Amino acid sequence: MRIENLEVAVSSVVSLMMTDSMIKKMLEDTNIFHTQYVDIFLERYSDYVFNFDDEIFKKCITLMLIPDYRWETIFTDLRRGFCEQIASGSHCDDIILSFIESLSIQCFLNDYVYNYEDDEIEWLNYLKDNITGNEKYYAPVIACYEPIHNLVKPYKQDVFTRVQITDPLSVLDIQKTLERIGTIDDPISKLVRDQYLENPYPKWRYTDFMPEEYRIGKPSRVLIAGCGTGQQVISASQYKDAEITAIDLSDASVAYAKQKADEYGMNVRFIVMDLLNVELLQQQFDIIECGGVLHHMADPERGLSALCKVLAPGGQMKLGLYNRDARTAVTKVRNSINNVNIRDFRTKVFHGHYPELEELTYMLDFYGYSTCRDYCFHECEHQFTLPQIHVMLNNNNLDLCEFVGMESSHMYQFIAQSRRKH
Ligand SMILES: C[S@@+](CC[C@H](N)C(=O)[O-])C[C@H]1O[C@@H](n2cnc3c(N)ncnc32)[C@H](O)[C@@H]1O
Repeated sequence: MRIENLEVAVSSVVSLMMTDSMIKKMLEDTNIFHTQYVDIFLERYSDYVFNFDDEIFKKCITLMLIPDYRWETIFTDLRRGFCEQIASGSHCDDIILSFIESLSIQCFLNDYVYNYEDDEIEWLNYLKDNITGNEKYYAPVIACYEPIHNLVKPYKQDVFTRVQITDPLSVLDIQKTLERIGTIDDPISKLVRDQYLENPYPKWRYTDFMPEEYRIGKPSRVLIAGCGTGQQVISASQYKDAEITAIDLSDASVAYAKQKADEYGMNVRFIVMDLLNVELLQQQFDIIECGGVLHHMADPERGLSALCKVLAPGGQMKLGLYNRDARTAVTKVRNSINNVNIRDFRTKVFHGHYPELEELTYMLDFYGYSTCRDYCFHECEHQFTLPQIHVMLNNNNLDLCEFVGMESSHMYQFIAQSRRKH
């Protein structure tokens, strides 16, 4: 049996053995990225049947992004039904209300990517115009379609209110106080910043965090270059006694990241800046992580050179770069589409309009708005081959240590660990 097949077999047996109490335990853990266990959800609910008062189901959809077309169809239909009912004056019981609140958190996690019909917009506008005094019913439904933190004040204390209102308001406050260094002048950096201001990448609630007692290694100075909404920053908790700096162009993303780092009690220096200006930090780093960033710059090698100037001798760099071979189909289709409406594009992909893109429907990034935009319709994208990476590392005095996660040559990005030669 091939190793991959064995892994699949073992993982499905493990999933089957997982009792509800084990799933519950996993769902209570706030130091993990729950979506990585979504197969357990898909396995447990493989018949696509559930009850509105199923607490495990509700908890799953508030923690994991569900990357599955059939579930998306079910959730989209339910959302439509709830919107119509509530807009037409019906009330619902507390069980349904609680389910709508959970569904709205799934929609928060996917950045409201589900498609809708014109009549839903009318119902939605009615709810928004008449929300005062009707928060209990209207807010959860609206929150299935769009953010509500600017529409309604916190009116109770629970997970729904925290995710949909309190936390986003606190992110806005943080955004006003962020440290900023240098200017963002490069035209591509400006375009890219605007993309991530509109759609910070990605939305998440909890991620892999290493509590202090488990950390190993020697003290290090760590730079997360292009930190986005901070998942990499929280994962950097693996470095013992690390002094972490995180930079990004988008203050909306940095503020999201800082709010999360504060939640995890991590002491991180966050700065809004272009990594092209990283020398302005006047600091050297032992570890630099730069995942999914350089390939979105006008000149990736210029970005790498800037980072190398602040990499300490013997320091390590972890780079995530797009793999040209894995992106041929996306590139072809993207070049043939004008005026992209991401929701309509996804619907077309699901309906087989672009057969060459069917593989997208198996990718997690396809199931969120910011991630789909990032993956398929980025303002600027470069792709790499292995020889190109080799040349780029060589030009910058870096030794390749290893490729991480290279079990398939069709990985959408290469993750190259490298080390400064001297
Ligand atoms: C695809 S996201 C990756 C985020 C994060 N590294 C992760 O893996 O979750 C790319 C991020 O790089 C940032 N970025 C792109 N060009 C940058 C630049 N020149 N300087 C700083 N950040 C940049 C974007 O703002 C965006 O947040």
